[in-house]
Order: sequence, then C-alpha cells, then structure tokens
Amino acid sequence: MAVDASLDQRNSLIPDIESLARPTLEERGRQRFCSALRRYAIQDMPDLLKRDFDERVKRRHEARGEALDDALAIERAMKAEPSYRFYSTLRYNAQEMCFQSVQEPIERALPEMIGVARDAAERSPAGGTLRLDPALEMPRYLTSLDVHLTPGCFHSEWVEDDVAQGAVVSLGSRVFSATMNHRSWGGVARVISRWIKHERPDFRPSRMLDLGTSSGKNLVPYVEAFPGVEAHGVDLGAPLLRWGHAVAEHEGVPIHFSQQNAESLDFPDGHFDLIVSSFFFHEIPVKATRKVLKECRRLLRPGGLMVHQELPATGLVDAWEDYFWNWDTDNNNEPFYTAFRAQDPIALMTEAGFDPARSFAQILPDVNAYPDRHGAFAWDEPGRPRHGKGGWYVFGSSLPQ
Ligand SMILES: C[S@@+](CC[C@H](N)C(=O)[O-])C[C@H]1O[C@@H](n2cnc3c(N)ncnc32)[C@H](O)[C@@H]1O
Repeated sequence: MAVDASLDQRNSLIPDIESLARPTLEERGRQRFCSALRRYAIQDMPDLLKRDFDERVKRRHEARGEALDDALAIERAMKAEPSYRFYSTLRYNAQEMCFQSVQEPIERALPEMIGVARDAAERSPAGGTLRLDPALEMPRYLTSLDVHLTPGCFHSEWVEDDVAQGAVVSLGSRVFSATMNHRSWGGVARVISRWIKHERPDFRPSRMLDLGTSSGKNLVPYVEAFPGVEAHGVDLGAPLLRWGHAVAEHEGVPIHFSQQNAESLDFPDGHFDLIVSSFFFHEIPVKATRKVLKECRRLLRPGGLMVHQELPATGLVDAWEDYFWNWDTDNNNEPFYTAFRAQDPIALMTEAGFDPARSFAQILPDVNAYPDRHGAFAWDEPGRPRHGKGGWYVFGSSLPQ
C-alpha cells in the first residue's frame, strides 16, 4: 500500500504500551489468584495476627513479667509463633508471585513494547522528553538486591532499549494492588495535590519535580491538578523511564523524564516551585536521604513547597504498628525501612536547611475516604486514619517568598 507522504506522522498517537502484554486465560487466572492471596495476606491476616498477639502471646509474656512494649520485643515474641510464621510465609510468597505472574506475557510482548517505546522517544507527540544517561553509576543499594522482591529490580537491562522492568514494575504492581488490568494514576498524588489546593488556593506551581518517579504514576495527577505545570520526573531505572515516557505520550501528557540519581541532580538552583516524592525515601540509606533533602533545598525556589509521602516515622505510631511496618526490612528486600522510619523527619529537613517552623509531618486523609476533610488529621487528632488505611503520611516544608 502506498503511504500518503502528506500525512504528518508526528502527531499520530503512540499505541498503548500497557495493553501489549496479553495474558492467556490461565495466566490471567494465576494473576487473579496472586492478587487475592496478597490482599488476604496484607489486609485480613494482620488483624488475625494482632488478635493472636493480644489474646495469647502478650498475656503469656506478661504473666512472666515481660512487657512487650516496643517493636523489637514484639518481634522476638512473635518470631516462632505459628500464626506469625504462617502470615509471614504467605505474605512473602504472595509478594514474589504477584511480580512473577506478569513475567511470561511481558516476555512474549517485549519486542513490540520496545518498538512502541522507541517510537515514543523519537516522536514525543505530547511534548514530553526522555533523557537517559547510560554512563550513570547505579548505587549499590539498588544493585545488590531485588528491591521488594521485584525480579530484576528497577534498573536491569538485558537487551537494547529494554523496557521489561518498566513493564514488570507497572503491571506487577497492578496485580499486587488488586487493580489488575485497570490503569490507575497514583492515588497518593491525587490526595496530595488536592490537599495542596485546599491549603494553598493561590499556589500555582510552574515547574515541578518528582523524585524516584518510576514510570510517573504519581506524577501525572499533578499535571491534571495544576494545568500547564512543567512536570519533571527523575529515576535511576532507564527501563522504567522509557516505559513511563511511552505511557505519558500515549495519554497525551507532556512529562520530562530523566535518568538521574536524586542525590545529585543536574538542574540549576531554585529551578522548581514544587518538589514531591512517593514511596521513595524508605528505599535509600539514611546517608542518601540527607543528600537528597539537601538537593531539594537547593532546587526549591523562594515560595516553593516540598511534600514527600512516606512510611510513618517510628515515633508516631504505637508498638504494634511499628512492628508491622518493619516486617519488610528483614523479609521484603527493603533493608532501609527500619532505619528510615527511626529518623525524625523534621530534624532531617532542618539539617538540610529547611526552617522547622515551616516543616510538617502528618497524615493526609484519602479524599475518597474523607472527601470533606482535606486539612484534617494531624497526628494527635482522635479518629485519624492509619497510613495506608484511609490516609497517607507525608512530611515536607516550604520556603518563604
Ligand atoms: C518504590 S518506587 C516508587 C515509585 C513511584 N514514586 C510511585 O509512587 O509509584 C522507588 C523508586 O525510586 C527509584 N530510586 C531509588 N533510588 C533512587 C535514587 N537515588 N535516585 C533516583 N531514583 C531512585 C527506584 O528506581 C524506584 O523507581
């Protein structure tokens, strides 16, 4: 067939890269099973475990005069209990299986996916950009293990222009979070952007940055919330960025992805008026956290705002919740969880040059669960939701004009 040379290919759509992995009926069944198993392990089992602790284990220890009033004491007491062993084994395996369940359909579709991502990178019809740095050194904290049991982690590349890890992280996370084949932009970004608009109705960021953006899932909602904002996302993993760029271009959202280490970024001083991150800091050592926060201070312009969503700090939760969150440190290839959570975020931000009087650490209510309570639920407010159960813990700061 002759091609009409007058057609302007630059504006034709990028195909949906996310729809190319087509699981067979059997694979789909396996994904649904893994999803339900993981949901049971993370949502239902902890309550059963807590009941066993309260009604049996704790009483037995207290009868011996042993107080189980911190996470370490609880961990020691629970380690050999059949209830804990069953829960922990199930949760570990469910986590692994969620990611494994997407690998085969991804492998079959890989050449096609790479083609789409290349096309997106060449044409960028939505106006985004993709800037990769093949010489960028990957820190050991990323390369020494498969973070949260994701096979291949965030950065591995096996073929030229590889997008496999972008697909595994993105599609595996859907099995993991039980959203299955539905694309959902990040709920965290929706919560934070709504909160910002509620708290600061006059705040109109013109340029923003998302650290550890992965494929931009928790960056895109800011573009919807603040139309016209120039949105930048940085990450170490090239396959995630290629994938995210292809998705954003397909959706017509201009995002500027670049492969950089958040500890040392190449943007000029005062370049951004909004800096965000989600699920990022707990994945890096505290030493790196300090460097990243210094970068945030350097990059934020006067009047700018910084908001990071993270795991709740140790000092802000009770002993059981503390114990619950730290499970990942030993069992989920998340070696920095406990050390990060042990930090006082206000102190870390102060050390990086932020004013403690302008800094905050609080739970933001999920807009779906609490539509009318945008500014509510400081840590000491009775009835506040738990992080991950109707609310998200954030810390951040702002600069004066
Ligand atoms: C758990 S993912 C979070 C993804 C995303 N923010 C979200 O909300 O879904 C953490 C991301 O941080 C990235 N990362 C880890 N260390 C980094 C660093 N030093 N600089 C930039 N990105 C980093 C990883 O590659 C990974 O994509």
